[in-house]
Amino acid sequence: MQIVRQLDPLRDALAEFRKAGSRIGLVPTMGALHAGHMRLVEVAKEQCDAVVASIFVNPAQFGEGEDLDAYPRPEAADAALLTAAGVKLLWAPTADQVYPEGYATNVSVSGISDGLCGAARPGHFDGVATVVAKLFNQIRPDAAFFGEKDYQQLAIIRRMARDLDFTHEIVGVATVRDPDGLALSSRNAYLTAEQRNNAVALPQMMQDAAMAIAAGGAVSAILAETTARLLETGFHKIDYLELRDANTLAVLNDFTKSARLFAAAHIGRTRLIDNIPVS
Ligand code: PAJ
Repeated sequence: MQIVRQLDPLRDALAEFRKAGSRIGLVPTMGALHAGHMRLVEVAKEQCDAVVASIFVNPAQFGEGEDLDAYPRPEAADAALLTAAGVKLLWAPTADQVYPEGYATNVSVSGISDGLCGAARPGHFDGVATVVAKLFNQIRPDAAFFGEKDYQQLAIIRRMARDLDFTHEIVGVATVRDPDGLALSSRNAYLTAEQRNNAVALPQMMQDAAMAIAAGGAVSAILAETTARLLETGFHKIDYLELRDANTLAVLNDFTKSARLFAAAHIGRTRLIDNIPVS
């Protein structure tokens, strides 16, 4: 696997792939790779000839007081995983290759970015949309792969791609979970053993709530009760627990066939997010 940090050699390497007629798949990440990221690589490999992964811990999507400095950066281990998975090229740009001096442009996807994580993390999705638009222009892939773990992010990227005429495919990949149900996340590394034990309450209680909603229970009462139960199980702050339409992300007060449950909750110094279909 080639590891490339500068735009000129990136363009040369991509030109070689194109000359060979390869369909190029892009898997953008911030590193600290786990089986969730590697599932994206696997799906990309199934659908493309040359898989390009990117690792860039994007400062623009971290807010004041968030974990930018603490974010894990195990690059050698990440590179070994990607090599073993058959990735052809790792794009690990230096910051100046993404944000050159005097950088002044922002991509902001309104509406769909407003609620859920957008409300809890002001500016976060502008940072995401901006860097993903840049990665799309830098790589010009035939397909790009994103996890449903970050469902709102995926919806925002789909919207941005339609709005800004990125015509390549955007592929969503189902969330990979530990055997007990906790969604894999680079941030799970922050959890103590006790917090990790308690964290499983999030997917479990979301499943219980989803079943109760699908069975016709009163949505607001179920969400309130689930929030209270989470607060008794080691979570000290719930940013949101909401029922939304899976396609538009519009808030739902009643069950529909396209309903999806979204949550973000803090345990210790870690903020966990999850989302599941309600059916
Ligand atoms: P990161 O958190 O590293 O995630 C990279 C990709 O892996 C995202 O598409 C995310 O949804 C996916 N992913 C993470 N955990 C997953 C899991 N358990 N199952 C399936 N997929 C999972 O998301 C970002 O980075 C950044 O915002 C990025 C898009 C790279 C822009 O900076």
